[in-house]
Amino acid sequence: MVHDGQSGARVVLLTGGAGFVGSHTAIELLERGDSVVVVDNCVNAVKGGDDKPVALQRVEELTGKTVKYHEASMLDCEALDNVFKQYKVDVVIHFAALKSVGESVDQPLRYYGNNITGTLNLLQAMSTAGVKRLVFSSSATVYGTPQYLPIDESHPTGQGITNPYGQTKFMCEQIMMDLARADPEWRVVLLRYFNPVGAHPSGRIGEDPRGIPNNLMPTIAQVAVERRPNLYVYGNDFETVDGTGVRDYVHVVDLARGHVAALSKLWSKESTGTLIYNLGTGQGISVLQMIEAFSRACGKKLAYKITSRRKGDVGTVVATCELAKKELGWVAERSLEDMCVDTWRWQSNNPNGFSI
Ligand code: UFG
Repeated sequence: MVHDGQSGARVVLLTGGAGFVGSHTAIELLERGDSVVVVDNCVNAVKGGDDKPVALQRVEELTGKTVKYHEASMLDCEALDNVFKQYKVDVVIHFAALKSVGESVDQPLRYYGNNITGTLNLLQAMSTAGVKRLVFSSSATVYGTPQYLPIDESHPTGQGITNPYGQTKFMCEQIMMDLARADPEWRVVLLRYFNPVGAHPSGRIGEDPRGIPNNLMPTIAQVAVERRPNLYVYGNDFETVDGTGVRDYVHVVDLARGHVAALSKLWSKESTGTLIYNLGTGQGISVLQMIEAFSRACGKKLAYKITSRRKGDVGTVVATCELAKKELGWVAERSLEDMCVDTWRWQSNNPNGFSI
């Protein structure tokens, strides 16, 4: 019997499923009736009473369904093989990766080891188990410094990437494309995220970075909840609407739904080899516009200081997502206001994230 993964229920393995995008994707999959198996090493997650990440406990609470959870590193080949022996996995969504840009510059071996070797181990385990459907959590970082705007999927990749984190995303894409070229049974979707923000509208799960956040949205949210004292705007001399950096922010629930759309695509007839999609809104928002929108959402004026540009930052990064619309039937539906209101609900209800 042909397994109809387009409409039927599937067994979906999420590596890094306890993370920000992974946990939101788990909700969307469970709600559509899929079974979810998570493998996560928990290095960036908070664990709850029964040793399960709190994020996954809350996914279960929100959906009323069970998430099968295995704490394991992508560097543990035996553990990976065992997961594939234990479940009849139909498809893998590979989120697991270290993702701090600055940290990757200081710890290149850890980043290459974890992200590249981890991915190779996963692909080998999938190959051994005969599981050849894969969605990969890639990033706009593969485009390097934009050569034109908005960025489409044909934009050159791998040029001018300034940090090991970005290199690992680019290299993983290359590995997957080579694999799909060598063996036509592989069906791969690379999803290039722009700037994921927001939180589940329940306020129960959201982004919970360890230590000092690197990214704008969690920084604004932590300043708004008075967990952090200062909000710095890195540069106001870019060629943008108000001089501050412009990015394409996309709500994490929209992003999660993009993964569900990508999975359906993997069972469609047109899906062969590697397919690549940008996931963003196509709309550019400046740092000051984001601060302003968040101030409205949280009902207080947020003080900020303008400081010098951050090394490696560019003025504008904005996607065109026409291809995802055309081929996946996916568009980002949530507004800037939704992104801010949902982030604020999560942060104000959980000032310390998943830690009590
Ligand atoms: N910014 C500030 N203050 C802060 C943090 C950020 O002004 O405290 C500015 C940045 O200079 C930039 C914008 O806010 O103009 C967004 O910065 P983020 O760090 O939130 O996001 P980036 O676009 O720099 O990085 C994102 C992802 C990376 C990815 C990169 C390139 O977080 O994983 O896009 O695709 F590598």
